[in-house]
Amino acid sequence: MVSDKLKAKLNELLNGEMEAHHIYTQAAARSSANAFEGATKFLLGHAKEELSHMLKFFGFLDDLGAEISLHRPVGHRLG
Ligand SMILES: [Fe+2]
Repeated sequence: MVSDKLKAKLNELLNGEMEAHHIYTQAAARSSANAFEGATKFLLGHAKEELSHMLKFFGFLDDLGAEISLHRPVGHRLG
């Protein structure tokens, strides 16, 4: 049996990884818009890595049968 406190912490960590993924992806988009191909490749590599970390936490929570709650990323645009 896993405590609600641990489930909340795992969700917090999952959201931190998702936020990192979002930030790297956004930076890659800006880099690409400025034709910085090497930097874009570097940033997208990190974006993929952070997404893989998020998916590990997703798997932990899913295996526990815990609720998975994704927050909106920083800088999220409405509409
Ligand atoms: Fe990470």
